Amino acid sequence: MGTEEKLAAIREYVAGIFENDATGHDFFHMKRVARTAGEISVKEGADLFITEAAAWVHDIGDAKLSTDPAAEVERLHKFLHSIDCTTEEIQKISEAVKNVSFSKGSVPATVEGRIVQDADRLDAIGAVGIARTFAYGGANGQLIWHNSHTSGTSVQHFYDKLLKLKGLMNTSSAVEIAEERHKFMESYLNQFFEEWSG
Ligand code: NI
Repeated sequence: MGTEEKLAAIREYVAGIFENDATGHDFFHMKRVARTAGEISVKEGADLFITEAAAWVHDIGDAKLSTDPAAEVERLHKFLHSIDCTTEEIQKISEAVKNVSFSKGSVPATVEGRIVQDADRLDAIGAVGIARTFAYGGANGQLIWHNSHTSGTSVQHFYDKLLKLKGLMNTSSAVEIAEERHKFMESYLNQFFEEWSG
């Protein structure tokens, strides 16, 4: 299988897993992360196939989305073998997705991993990031906001995580994209609190 065919097969595989997700980690999240990661990969001179493949599969086996992460990762590796990915490619893809998650607080070891982390973080901010934050909060029973709660609300999540992401980007290409999305979130929050207390 050629590179394009492999990526098409991976996209179908990912669609089967995430098509019904209502927590902000649906197929279109994977699609945006893959597209953004691909664009950054070209600018940064990274391996485009490894970056895109890793971006597509980066949420497979995430503990907050899966009941059996290890089994899901094993199934993924078997699938990648079945579409003619080499052992080396599978290792590189695994390495790239290993430390993507914000909660682990790590910087991925490879440039492809750092790009996937940036692309995933870019999808957590801006207009789409705002929509995903409230979808995730709703799916997990969180309040929108509460005047006397300092944790566990969707709006608090902007302060705990989202407003920090611009400063945590690994590549300069990602920082450029983050600037505008960051400003949009700040203006959104200003308007939110005006209406909330007005
Ligand atoms: Ni993600």
